[in-house]
Amino acid sequence: MSASATGGPDLPQERRLVTEIPGPRSRALHERRMTAVAKGVGSVLPVYVDKAGGGVVVDVDENSLIDLASGIAVTSVGNSAPEVVRRVTDQVAAFTHTCFMVAPYEGYVEVCEALAELTPGDHAKKSALFNSGAEAVENAVKIARAHTGRDAVVVFDHAYHGRTNLTMAMTAKNMPYKHGFGPFAGEVYRAPVSYPFREPTPISGAQAAARAIEVIDKQVGADNVACVVIEPVLGEGGFVVPAPGFLGALADWCREHGVVFVADEIQTGMCRTGAWFACEHEGVVPDLVTVAKGVAGGLPLAAVVGRAEMMDAPHAGGLGGTYGGNPVACAAALAAIETMEEEDLAGRAREIGVILTDRLGRLAEKYDEVGEVRGRGAMIAMELVTDPDTKEPAAALTSAVNQGCHERGLVTLTCGTYGNVFRFLPPLSISDDLLHEGLDVLEESFTAAVG
Ligand SMILES: Cc1ncc(COP(=O)(O)O)c(C=O)c1O
Repeated sequence: MSASATGGPDLPQERRLVTEIPGPRSRALHERRMTAVAKGVGSVLPVYVDKAGGGVVVDVDENSLIDLASGIAVTSVGNSAPEVVRRVTDQVAAFTHTCFMVAPYEGYVEVCEALAELTPGDHAKKSALFNSGAEAVENAVKIARAHTGRDAVVVFDHAYHGRTNLTMAMTAKNMPYKHGFGPFAGEVYRAPVSYPFREPTPISGAQAAARAIEVIDKQVGADNVACVVIEPVLGEGGFVVPAPGFLGALADWCREHGVVFVADEIQTGMCRTGAWFACEHEGVVPDLVTVAKGVAGGLPLAAVVGRAEMMDAPHAGGLGGTYGGNPVACAAALAAIETMEEEDLAGRAREIGVILTDRLGRLAEKYDEVGEVRGRGAMIAMELVTDPDTKEPAAALTSAVNQGCHERGLVTLTCGTYGNVFRFLPPLSISDDLLHEGLDVLEESFTAAVG
């Protein structure tokens, strides 16, 4: 199949449909996939990618789609961003792997130094690098247990933390993440989160935190809790922004009881929400932060960053892995971080957030089915309902709009426990024009699906 040309920001920044979606080459690849790739691995889009960059994804039939997903919040600096390509190319030519646990190298140390600077709080910090978000979450739990000598892990309703055995236990939603894959790791306890749109009666962040703490106190006991793990804006659970004060009250409770407060910033971190990390919006300083996705411009890298004394709790040799902090992924991360700094991508995420909120807000004025528009920065969603009073989730409508968007040349995603949240995670390299065009197409798909 094609793999014909270079991607990156020099690709024509346009939506261009030259075949039906999916086109013949994508359909042929799909046939091959059906015999070679396990069914359990799904794909949202029916097209196969040839190249991508800026704000577009070009498929093997030469259709150019507007990217409103960035590979689930990963290519924040854009696909094949020039500095990422340059540093990765240099690193590949120098050496591809020695294993940091065998023969260390500077790139790993540099990434840890950068993350210590960028994460919230000015205390002494250390980091350990891994390959995936789930692996970072697993290691945050290991570190918290080693530091506290306690077992229990507290997570929340609507949480998503990954697909490994422990992180499946930590993830809330059964289908498709957990169904049939148990038994799951023990000592994981779930508390109610703050989900303002779905509270039967409005409560403040402090009240929602008190409600969660009551559950933890009664069902687990503070003295047994190693860590509380929370996404500052819930990702897969529906881009839920907890009521103001919720995160802070939980963090205070953790501090009071010697519990490690872990912010899972795998989706929210690295400029996505208009700040380096989403905890900053609430002035919350976590003990440990998990980082992945946007950190390395599309290469697999993850990290746990945290208070030096906690990070040093595990014995020497207790953390690591063959590929964790691979030199090529570290080179990509250093390039992505430099690009984010130089191009003020946190500022760009805020600008994108204004456009998204304004346009989706106008859609909400027109259609009762848009129950709420929410999120932070370039992590914005609309929750769809069949009825604004009952707030019955409109999962079928959400899926119809999504499919309509794909057919019209948009890369879009849904999420939410009830499958009724339409989410936007554009690369921060997208232009205003392309974003507006994408939102025009969304509106067209929405209107067609509502009927
Ligand atoms: C908040 C959060 N935690 C953990 C993960 C798991 O990351 P990965 O898919 O890299 O294992 C994700 C992925 O979507 C996530 O959004």
